[in-house]
Amino acid sequence: MKIIESPAELQKETSKYRDQGKKIGFVPTMGFLHEGHEQLIRQAEKQNEIVVLSIFVNPLQFGEGEDLDHYPRDEKHDREVARRLGVDIIFFPTVKSMYPSEPAIKLSVTKRTNVLCGKSRPGHFDGVVTVLAKLFHLCQPSAAYFGMKDAQQVAVVKALVDDLNFPVEIVPVPTVREKDGLAKSSRNVNLSPQEREEAPAIQKALQNGRKMIKNGEKDFQTVKTAVNTFIENNTHGKIEYIELLSYPSLEPVDRPAGKMILATAVKFEKARLIDNLVFDSK
Ligand code: PAJ
Repeated sequence: MKIIESPAELQKETSKYRDQGKKIGFVPTMGFLHEGHEQLIRQAEKQNEIVVLSIFVNPLQFGEGEDLDHYPRDEKHDREVARRLGVDIIFFPTVKSMYPSEPAIKLSVTKRTNVLCGKSRPGHFDGVVTVLAKLFHLCQPSAAYFGMKDAQQVAVVKALVDDLNFPVEIVPVPTVREKDGLAKSSRNVNLSPQEREEAPAIQKALQNGRKMIKNGEKDFQTVKTAVNTFIENNTHGKIEYIELLSYPSLEPVDRPAGKMILATAVKFEKARLIDNLVFDSK
């Protein structure tokens, strides 16, 4: 396993593989790897000859007061995970090497961001697509792997590669969950024991909502109210949003229309959890 810190060196190394006709699979992360990330790496390994994992806590996607400095890090653990899974290259750049000076160019996302988590995180997805554009140019992958846990991110990244013609296939990977249905996240450790017990109710509430639609419920307000009530009755969390939108365009819909996303964010004492279901409304 190669550990590369310099952007120029990564580009040189991946160019070599591309010239050899090797397929490169790319897994971008911010580190502190858990089983969700591991699943992306495994999927990349199944479909490619070379797997590149990037670990970079991207300051551009953190807003004011969004604790960039306290983002959890554990390089040693991440290296061990990558080695165990057979990653070929870990890309571990410094902030200085990715952004040597204040960027003269930043990308700006004009659709799909005024909903869900984008609403409360202005500029977040601009930072995500800006770093991904750089990483795609450095890594030159055939395919890049993203978790459906962050379904809005997948939708925005699809728009990035479609609108700017990146020759990269975006592969969505299903959310990895605990046995009781809670989506795996590094934030779960911040739940109190009681909150941890309550948290699986979030996924159950979304499943109930999906069932209502599949069973023919046409009034989406009724569905959202039912999801809301279930979460309120079964957790002490504060609901930030419950939304039902088209997917991946993330437009509001008021009746069943093709592929949809039902998503929620729930704030507990020390952790904000998100979860979603993407499904065909028919
Ligand atoms: P990060 O939060 O580290 O997540 C990296 C990838 O892991 C994302 O695609 C995310 O959706 C996926 N992931 C996290 N939990 C998951 C789970 N339980 N099941 C499946 N996949 C899961 O997302 C980012 O980093 C950054 O925004 C990044 C894309 C790296 C750009 O900086």
